[in-house]
Amino acid sequence: MRCGILKRMATDVLIIGSGGREHALAWKLKQSPRVGKLYVAPGNGGTGMLAENVDISVMEFEKLARFAEEKRIGLTVVGPDDPLVGGIVDVFKSHGLRIWGPSKEAAQIEGSKAFSKQLMQEAKIPTAEFALFSEPHTALAHVRTHGFPIVIKASGLALGKGVYICRSFEEAEHAITEIMIEKIHKDAGNEVVIEEYLDGPEISIHALTDGITHVLFPSSQDHKRALDGDEGKNTGGMGAIAPVPWVTSQVMTGIDSAVVIPTFEALKKRSIQFQGLLYPGLKVTLDGLKVLEYNARFGDPECQVYMRLLKTDLLDLLDACVDSTVDVVKKSVEWHRGFAANIVLASGGYPDAYQKGFPITGIEEAEKVEGVVVFHAGTILRGSTLYTNGGRVLGVSAVGGTLKQALDRAYEAVGKIHFEGMHFRRDIGAKSLS
Ligand code: AMP
Ligand code: GLY
Repeated sequence: MRCGILKRMATDVLIIGSGGREHALAWKLKQSPRVGKLYVAPGNGGTGMLAENVDISVMEFEKLARFAEEKRIGLTVVGPDDPLVGGIVDVFKSHGLRIWGPSKEAAQIEGSKAFSKQLMQEAKIPTAEFALFSEPHTALAHVRTHGFPIVIKASGLALGKGVYICRSFEEAEHAITEIMIEKIHKDAGNEVVIEEYLDGPEISIHALTDGITHVLFPSSQDHKRALDGDEGKNTGGMGAIAPVPWVTSQVMTGIDSAVVIPTFEALKKRSIQFQGLLYPGLKVTLDGLKVLEYNARFGDPECQVYMRLLKTDLLDLLDACVDSTVDVVKKSVEWHRGFAANIVLASGGYPDAYQKGFPITGIEEAEKVEGVVVFHAGTILRGSTLYTNGGRVLGVSAVGGTLKQALDRAYEAVGKIHFEGMHFRRDIGAKSLS
């Protein structure tokens, strides 16, 4: 009887996206007794094993909304930035559908660096000194008057690849040409932000909100560069840890009052209600903490470590954002003790060109290591064989009582997985161990 009632009250959930972040969200939501059927559009090889993959792309808003109506989806959860910035939330709301994530207007904080830099300037939020340009020749003239390194960024979304750290005039010229003249990031390069280079370790802050109250997650840290020692190109993220052991609760309180609260205040001042997850990326410099950028969603691979540490039912938290009841759940958010790590296994060549379609082996063995869960990103299941299907292929996550234990377990599990060309960083979390 009780079971029948629960079933009737269950919420069917649709997750939008196909990365490791979405697999982690699905993995966590699957544990909720309140979640009924779980769908992921378009999903990956891993999400297909615990939910039903739906063959609709993340940018087909009307099609997704029709699917949600047909299946009487109780909540849609948006993972990636592109559909948020494109306005998926507004489309779903116009259909009267419940959806978790910021509106198109609010997602500008990620979608337009011009918008976010101006907002930070207005609200006196510490960030790199910057200037904005919409003409290549004025951008170049500005570079001439500055020293190096200097950072040049496409203002719009560019898959994490629109940021150029330039150490010489030639490199800056090359960046401006690629972004503004060759338009390799398309319209994302209509404007560029040129800013001061910030030195120091990076941390990721995640604040869940209904637009009125927010809950701060523990700190986490991604590793953006492709190679050990923070060498090589910027990627979507090669591995994460949480919490960051040297980020004390005092530091978190400081970040809340200097960054998170003023950001929400500045949005409110513009009459923008942000509902979902705000993720400011911060640099810890000798001059203090500075905001590098904002994201309007969970980080990937940060989400994977958060989902391993979150004790509270994720559906309760997401519902609270949509129903404007974050103040009610705020006090009851619980985290497992200890640490989590996630090591990304990438295709050979990533973040540049890479091949797909190689068989993957060893995941079952890897998951036998204590504390380990393997999240899929670029994978596809054909028959009973799993193949590589993207740049970031898998995220091998582990929890442990100490950061070292979490990392040791994750790397032991990594050693059991194989696919042709597989590459990963061997120094995730290493700097935080010492
Ligand atoms: P963004 O898309 O702005 O987060 O930039 C992607 C990555 O580029 C960041 O995570 C940093 O590693 C690096 N980056 C961006 N801006 C700067 C900066 N001003 N100084 C140093 N590194 C930066
Ligand atoms: N962790 C980097 C990102 O999600 O943008």
